Amino acid sequence: MIHPAELIERKRNGEELPGDEIAELILGYARGEIPDYQLAAFCMAVYFRGMTAAETYALTDAMIRSGRTLDLGGALGRKVVDKHSTGGVGDKTTIAVGPIVAACGVPVGKMSGRGLGHTGGTLDKLESIPGLSVDLSVDDFVAQVREVGLAIVGQTDDLVPADKQLYGLRDVTATVDILPLIASSIMSKKIAGGADAIVLDVKVGDGAFMKTLEDARALAQAMLELGEQAGREVVCLLTDMDQPLGAAVGNALEIAEALDTVRGEGPPDFTELVLDACARLLALSDLGIDEAEGRRRAEDAVSGGSALELYERWIRAQGGDPDPEALPQAPVVLPVTAPRAGTVTRLGAVAVGVAALHLGAGRRTKGDAIDHAVGVVCRAKRGARVGAGDVLAEVHARDEASGAEAVAAVLAAYELGDEAPREHGILLDVVA
Ligand code: URA
Repeated sequence: MIHPAELIERKRNGEELPGDEIAELILGYARGEIPDYQLAAFCMAVYFRGMTAAETYALTDAMIRSGRTLDLGGALGRKVVDKHSTGGVGDKTTIAVGPIVAACGVPVGKMSGRGLGHTGGTLDKLESIPGLSVDLSVDDFVAQVREVGLAIVGQTDDLVPADKQLYGLRDVTATVDILPLIASSIMSKKIAGGADAIVLDVKVGDGAFMKTLEDARALAQAMLELGEQAGREVVCLLTDMDQPLGAAVGNALEIAEALDTVRGEGPPDFTELVLDACARLLALSDLGIDEAEGRRRAEDAVSGGSALELYERWIRAQGGDPDPEALPQAPVVLPVTAPRAGTVTRLGAVAVGVAALHLGAGRRTKGDAIDHAVGVVCRAKRGARVGAGDVLAEVHARDEASGAEAVAAVLAAYELGDEAPREHGILLDVVA
C-alpha cells in the first residue's frame, strides 16, 4: 500500500518511481481514495522532475486500466483511424476533418476533450450548436459511427476515468504543459478508444504547450513510443501554433469557420492543415490508398459537397441544428484597428487565447460555465499588409466593458513592422 505524500516527496526529490507505485497512485485517485490536492502536488513534482519513458508508460497503462476499453474496429469490422491535437488556440481541426474523412468512406468515431488552459476543447465548441449532445452511450456512439460514418462525443465516464479527473485538475493547477502528462493523457485515450492508427497534430509555438520544435519533437517521440508499445501506428504532424489557427477563436465562431472549411471557404492556413490531416488519415485507413490519392479524395469531398452533406447528417444525428444561423451570437462586436500602416510581424496566440478566455470562452476554475458566443476573429494574420485604421480583428463580447478590455488585449497581441516576416507553411515537420 503506497503512502501518497511519500511518493510525491520521492518524485519531488528526483527519484524514478516504480511502475506499480505509479499505478497504485493513479488507480487510487480514480477510485476517489486519493484526493485532488495530492495529485496536484504530484503533477507539480513531475513538472520539475519529469518522468522516464518507463514511468510514462506505467502512467499511461494505469490510466487505461482505470476504466474500460473500446473495440470500435471490432464492432465495425474495419480498421479505425483517429486524430488528436495536443491543443492550441483556434484549433477546430477535428470538426472539419471528421466529416471530410467520413465522406471519403472511412468511419470516424472520436472521443474528444474540453478546453484546457488557454486552449479550447472540441466538446465545448460542439456544444455551442443548439440541441447538440456529446453525451452518447457507447452503444449509441458505435451505432452512429456505423450509420452516419461519424460521431464525436465526450469521453464516457468509464473510459480512462483517471484522465478525465486529472485533466480538469491540471487545467486549474498550472500543470498542463508537462510532456509526460500530455503524452500519457492523449495516448491513454487513443489506445483505450480502440484506434488502430492515429494522426497526432503536435502544436508548436507560443500558443502551444510545446514552445519549441525540439520540445514538440520530444513529445511526438514519446507518444510514438507509447503507441508502438500498444501496437498502434502513429504519425505526428508538427504544426505552427505561433499564431492562432485560422481566424476564429471562441466556440460558436470556430464552428462557423470549421463549417466554412468543409464547404471549401475556410482560411488558407486552416484549410491546408485540414486537408493534410485528411490525406494522412485516409492513407492510414483500410482504403489502401497513398497520401496523394487521399488528398485528392479529400479535396473532391469538399468541392463536390459530400463533406457538407455528411456534416449536416452528423450534427442532426447528435440532436443539433446544422444551420450556422442557429449558432449563438454575441450582442457586442467591436473592431480592433491598426494604429499605423505596416505588416503584421507577429500575432501572439496565447494573448488571443487568453483574451477569448477572459471574454468567457473558456474556464477559470474546474466546472465553470462557458459563454459559447464570445471570442475573437483575427482578420489580419502574420504577413498581412494593413493600412492605419484597418480592421485587424473583431472582438465578440457579452457586454461593452469586457469587449473593451479584450480589444486592448488583442491589439497588444499584434506587432506591426515595416518588413515582412519570414514565411513558412503550417506544417513544420513530420515524425513517424
Ligand atoms: N490534450 C489532451 O488530451 N491531454 C493533454 O494533457 C493535453 C492536450
